[in-house]
Amino acid sequence: MVAVSTSIPLDTEALRADFPFLEEQRDGKPLAYLDSASSTQKPRQVLDRMRAFYEHEYANVHRGVYRLAERATEGYEGARRTVAAFVNAPSEREVIFTRSATESINLVAYAWGLQNLGPGDTVVVTELEHHANFVPWQFIASKTGASFRHIPIDDAGELRLEVLDDLAREGSIKVVATGLVSNSLGTINPVERLAAWAHEQGAIMVVDAAQAAPHRTIDVQALGCDFLAFSSHKLCGPSGIGALWGRRELLEAMEPFNLGGEMIRSVGLERTTFNELPYKFEAGTPAIAEAVGFGAAIDYISEIGLPAIEQHEHELTVYAMDRLGELKWVRLFGPPVERRAGIVSFDVAGVHPHDVAQILDWDGIAVRAGHHCTQPLMARLGVAATTRASFYLYSIAEEVDRLVDGLHKVKKSLG
Ligand SMILES: Cc1ncc(COP(=O)(O)O)c(C=O)c1O
Repeated sequence: MVAVSTSIPLDTEALRADFPFLEEQRDGKPLAYLDSASSTQKPRQVLDRMRAFYEHEYANVHRGVYRLAERATEGYEGARRTVAAFVNAPSEREVIFTRSATESINLVAYAWGLQNLGPGDTVVVTELEHHANFVPWQFIASKTGASFRHIPIDDAGELRLEVLDDLAREGSIKVVATGLVSNSLGTINPVERLAAWAHEQGAIMVVDAAQAAPHRTIDVQALGCDFLAFSSHKLCGPSGIGALWGRRELLEAMEPFNLGGEMIRSVGLERTTFNELPYKFEAGTPAIAEAVGFGAAIDYISEIGLPAIEQHEHELTVYAMDRLGELKWVRLFGPPVERRAGIVSFDVAGVHPHDVAQILDWDGIAVRAGHHCTQPLMARLGVAATTRASFYLYSIAEEVDRLVDGLHKVKKSLG
């Protein structure tokens, strides 16, 4: 059970009691953790579930006939059902556990891309993409002889959809791969529209939902995509596990990505045949307790309610953009608040983002400084790095105030 009701607004006070990291204080204050886009903190409900699993239910999965192994398998497969329901997958067989969103995208790029791309084909990504949804496609395109193109952004960090017709005229588009929410700017991309366009071109639509799934309701059927990737550690779950949802007929037709135990039907000296979905794509012993923790994290955030989480983050983002907007020496990047998620990237005039982050840390404020794994985007913005504050369900307005006070200090000492 979570410590809040499902009503809007969130009872952050009660909810923050679920997070042990907030119990540690420095100078009488808990850490102002404003780096949830990078990874989220874990509530007791997830930690307790994983501990109980290890203490009472742990064995390897899918192979033992003894009861403990059956229980472990039930925990693991129960988590798969939870993930499937979370994204409204038509079938739990379409959900593959991976190590991360990164591995999910690599799986598609390798297993679908190597089989289906060739000279004359085009892969389209966006200028906003995280490297996880950029580099695998760039690499597989170059391996297969396909062209690699991108949808550029405008000065506000939003996709310039007017280029789609030109892209379509240039070649046979086979893959459109875009994030639902940009990790650097918070831009919310029009994925339904891009999915419809991708299908008009005869392409598959691959959605990187790493920054969306933790914060807003995801429905793969409504999005109209073919593959969707996300990670557990960004939604209050453990690291080391992520998920890939894929359309069954595409997954069925794909060759395996990793090979070894578990993913086979039969192995002979001459020939091996492969297991059914989803096991064909899950070679070796999986991250079992992590899957259970992933399921517990989804239960946790679902019980709070994704709409309530999204609304809470939106209000904080409005507040943060207002307050940061008052600082004449701070440049904000990204779209208007109505079209962005809980992420605010900015530049403090005359101060390197690493110095900003370090000085803020002295006051117990954790922000991210760097290129955020979006170097093409940084090049487009004309900066090497930004400072980024990002919010989650446990973030509060007082932390935004601490950030603003901290930035005044930064400006005073270095600006
Ligand atoms: C938009 C986006 N895509 C993909 C990833 C990669 O996620 P992971 O590191 O969990 O594989 C991230 C992580 O920051 C991200 O923000």
